[in-house]
This record gives sequence, C-alpha cells and structure tokens, in this order.
Amino acid sequence: MYRSHNCGELRAADANKEVKLAGWVQKSRDKGFMIWVDLRDRYGITQLIFDEARTDATIMQQAKSLGREFVIQVTGTVIERESKNANIPTGDIEVLVTELSILNEAQVPPFTIEDETDGGEDIRMKYRYLDIRRNPVKNNLLFRHNVTQEVRNYLSSLDFCEVETPYLIKSTPEGARDFVVPSRMNPGQFYALPQSPQTFKQLLMVAGMDRYFQIVKCFRDEDLRADRQPEFTQIDCEMSFIEQEDILQVFEGLTRHLLKKIHDIDIDAFPRMTFDEAMRRFGNDKPDIRFGMEFGELNRVAQHKDFGIFNTAELVVGIAVPGAASYTRKQIDELIDWVKRPQIGASGMVYCKCESDGSFKSSVDKFFDQEDLKKWASATGAQTGDLILVLSGPAFKTRTQLSALRMELANRLGLRKPNEFSPLWVIDFPLLEWDEETGRYHAMHHPFTSPKKEDIHLLDTDPGKVRANAYDLVLNGNEIGGGSIRIHDKETQALMFKHLGFTEEQAQEQFGFLMNAFQYGAPPHGGLAFGLDRLTAILGGQETIRDFIAFPKNNAGRDVMIDAPAAIDSAQLEELNIDLRASK
Ligand code: AMO
Repeated sequence: MYRSHNCGELRAADANKEVKLAGWVQKSRDKGFMIWVDLRDRYGITQLIFDEARTDATIMQQAKSLGREFVIQVTGTVIERESKNANIPTGDIEVLVTELSILNEAQVPPFTIEDETDGGEDIRMKYRYLDIRRNPVKNNLLFRHNVTQEVRNYLSSLDFCEVETPYLIKSTPEGARDFVVPSRMNPGQFYALPQSPQTFKQLLMVAGMDRYFQIVKCFRDEDLRADRQPEFTQIDCEMSFIEQEDILQVFEGLTRHLLKKIHDIDIDAFPRMTFDEAMRRFGNDKPDIRFGMEFGELNRVAQHKDFGIFNTAELVVGIAVPGAASYTRKQIDELIDWVKRPQIGASGMVYCKCESDGSFKSSVDKFFDQEDLKKWASATGAQTGDLILVLSGPAFKTRTQLSALRMELANRLGLRKPNEFSPLWVIDFPLLEWDEETGRYHAMHHPFTSPKKEDIHLLDTDPGKVRANAYDLVLNGNEIGGGSIRIHDKETQALMFKHLGFTEEQAQEQFGFLMNAFQYGAPPHGGLAFGLDRLTAILGGQETIRDFIAFPKNNAGRDVMIDAPAAIDSAQLEELNIDLRASK
C-alpha cells in the first residue's frame, strides 16, 4: 500500500493515527534541528515534520536532501499542530515522520509550482505537466470533469444514448478547412478528420437511434483565438421526431441543470431573440445581455442636417456609455483611435456628452442643436452623465464596429461580471450567407439545415432573405452552441445543394451516402452541438478555453510540449506515397 490517506484529508480528529502518505515536495523549511516539508498531491497539502529530538538521525539526514518536486513516501504519526494554518483544510495537523523513502528525485523545475507562478505562458506550455500540478490549472481540469459528468447525467436521464462516430472520415462541410490524413493502403487518397460528426449523427437518426449524444473531439483548421482551438470538444446531440421547440427545451434544460448543479443558480426561461433583432439591438449575433448600452438608430434624427458624413451613410447608430460624460478629451481621442485601428476599421466617431446641467456638448455642435441632441439621447437611452458614441457607414459593417466598441467599453467598465450568467437563444438565422471571395452563397450553418417553410419560395428570388430553422445558445456574449432542424427529404436536400452551387454529380460524390440514406425512411430530425471547452470556460468565469484543456495548442496551432506538427522521415513519406519535392 503506497498510502493510507491522500494529502488533503487528514484533520484534527485523526490525531495519533499512524498514516502513510505519498506525493511531491512542494517546499521544505530547514531549521537545523527541525525540518518542515509541504507534501502535495492532487487533493491538497499536508505538512510533514522531522524533529531531531523525535526522528531517527538517518531519516533526518535524508530529509535534508529533499529538493522541490521530489516524489516521496512517508510513514508517520498525525499530531495536532501548535501553530495552526487556517488557510488549508489540513492546517490543524502535521505528520511526524518515522519512515521516509525517496521514490524519485526531481530536477529543479523551470518555474515555481505554486498558485502564483513566475513562469510565463510559453515555458508553462512547454512543461504543461508541471503547470497542471498548480492549483489553478488542476482545478480547471477537475471543473471540466464535473461539467462533463453533469452533461452525461442529464442527457442519459433523458434517454440520449452516447454513440462514438469515426475520426477517419471524408470531409464534413462546416465551413472551416479540414485536417487531412494520408492513407497508406490507398495511395494518393486522404481521410479528413471530422469538423463535427454532423452527417454521422443524421445517419444515426435514419438508423432509428432516436436520441444520440457524444462528447467528441472535432478538428478545424482555422485561425485561432482565445475561444478557438484546432481540436476542440463538442457535446454533440441529435433527436428524432421533434420540432425546434423540443430541442430548445431540452438544451435550455441542460444549461439550467449545469448552472444549478455548478453554481446553484436558478434561471428563468431564456430570452429568445431573432438574428435580425440581435443585430439591430447589439450589432452582434451573440450579444452579451448582462449590461445595457443597446444600439440606438439615429438615421431619422441625425440625417438631413448639414453633416454630410451622416447624410450619405446607410446607418447612423450610437450607444450611451454610462457615466462617461466626464471623459477627458484625451480619453475620447483614445477611443476614437481605438475604433480607427485596422482591426475595427471605423473612419471616425462622433460623440455627445450629456452634461449634468441637462445640456449636451457634442463634437458636431456646428450641425446639431440641443433639440437634435436630445433626440439622440432619447434614441440611445442616454441619461445625464452618459457619453453617446456614434458611428456611421454601411449597415452591417457599422453595426459590427459599434458592437466591438460596446464590448471593449463593457470590459473596461467592469460590466462583464464573470459570476453573472445571462443565456439567451438567438433564432431565425439566415439560411445563406453571401461570400464576397467566391461570389456565391454559402450555407450559414451547414447544408443540411432546413429553410423555414414559409420562406422557401424566396430561394429563387431573394436567397439572402430565406430564414433557417437554426438557433444558437449564447452565454455572456459567447456562442456556446448551435444547431438546426435538418432537411430530411431528398428533394429539399437536392434543392439546397443546387442553391449552394453544387452540380448534381458533385452533390452525389460528396453527400451521396446521406442522400441515399434519406431514401430509406429518414425521420424528421434536428439537433445541436455545444462547445464543451467554451461552456466550461464560461461557467468557470473565464473566456480563454486553453486554460480548460489539458494539453492545448498555442496560437500558431503548435503543441510546444511535444513539438508538433513536425516533419516525418522520408521512409514514412514514401510509404504514404507523398513526394514533397513533387508538390513544391
Ligand atoms: P458549430 O459549427 O456551430 O455547429 O459548432 C458547435 C459549437 O462548437 C464550438 N466551436 C468551437 N470551440 C472551440 N474551438 C473551435 N475551433 C470551435 N468551433 C466551434 C462553439 C460552437 O457553438 N454540426 C453542427 C452542430 C449541429 O448543427 O448540430 C456544428 O458543429 O461553441
């Protein structure tokens, strides 16, 4: 037996017990005649004591040689501490060591393994196994486990069956690039790693599995951000004989269950907002509704004056920043520079201060009088003491810019409280999205999403106006999940492929297996997938998903610990029929 207890469980009530512990040396304090060692494992820290008066001289000697992160095993007696440490659960006791064995020595770690570390991001990633020994990272992994466990409990209780689907597949069209895997046995041919199990879960519905879920790795070769990894995990679900409302109920239920179990928070019915409304009110299809600063459209009240920039703009839109009328010229200029950065791309910004005496002071006083500005305040909901910031230009672009500014200001003003949770459904997404690069429409969600019946007639005349039976779950300004009701008949699917610019042959070649399956009795079905990494991070009050993944990739998509991706040797290339010289 390596240990009788772990390092987090001994209490005063265990005094006088003989115990055996094992773990890592967090640190030791050597006073010569007395040595204290903090012994750490996943469960906590227990203080060991070696005392010249009571400990064997050879053990005393051995204890002096212990370095940070040595792996040791001790036998000893639990004694009550003279000076107790209220900061740790085992702080009332210590273990007087009678036997010590060094199980493994350790090099001095490249950074301190404590909650507050001196290690920068790069070095901690390279030695991720040491970083995971630290509480903040370890606790995130344990937190993720709890979330995952609750997801499994909830879905299993509703008859969802977890089914694994293959990783070596043919490309799934989710809009990103595929990671591909060469096939040794099929020279010149490649598997693709799934961007999601989308087609397989639909086939499981044709197969009669009725309710499927899977906690599954997905792979997407796309640009990385704080909330994106090239491999990430979905809670992927699909249901048969349901309508959109059924799906919203089940996954609203799942989200409520998690908030209750994890944070003991009860949330009423989630608000629902159409895509159009979300864009109009927040300039964003994943609005953070924990705070206000809703958009106020100013075309009616700000156009047809002498201010040319507004008059020629498709949209003039503003937000009221609470309490910011006191901003100095320098602070406002900094905000103007912020929106003019290439990442945001605004050409300028107009402002109006709502002064404490009820008057208005704007950067365009030459063109607008107090009555005009009062209307701006009323359209943006500005109160005395607020600062109205106004952008103008093409509608979509301007909304996106103002949305970025709204989020930036909310961050700066501390309005995005990590322990407050405001979920909502965004529904009625457009079916198709115009792509400037290719000059054609793309499926906004994926090509299996069903159009709203009442909009199908617009497919030929005004495709951009067709709405889909598609929905996203948004939590605190993040897209946590998305899904749709699927097309389940061959004719509608063929119609969709036609509108997405696939020839019949191309559609048959890529998706023949699915269209064929639909000829053998496909039930009406639909589903959704949550991003588990995102969900966990946000429930944990953070937004960087890397912190909740045991071995994440860095921003360049590299695993710096194992140094991947890496070149492979020529014999392996040859076996795979890959000639790098030929492709140059
Ligand atoms: P979608 O593409 O919206 O839908 O993905 C579902 C959810 O997965 C998360 N997600 C990511 N998380 C981390 N890194 C990434 N690179 C990444 N990409 C997506 C998001 C997102 O909401 N098959 C459909 C679902 C369906 O229709 O049922 C799908 O994959 O939280």
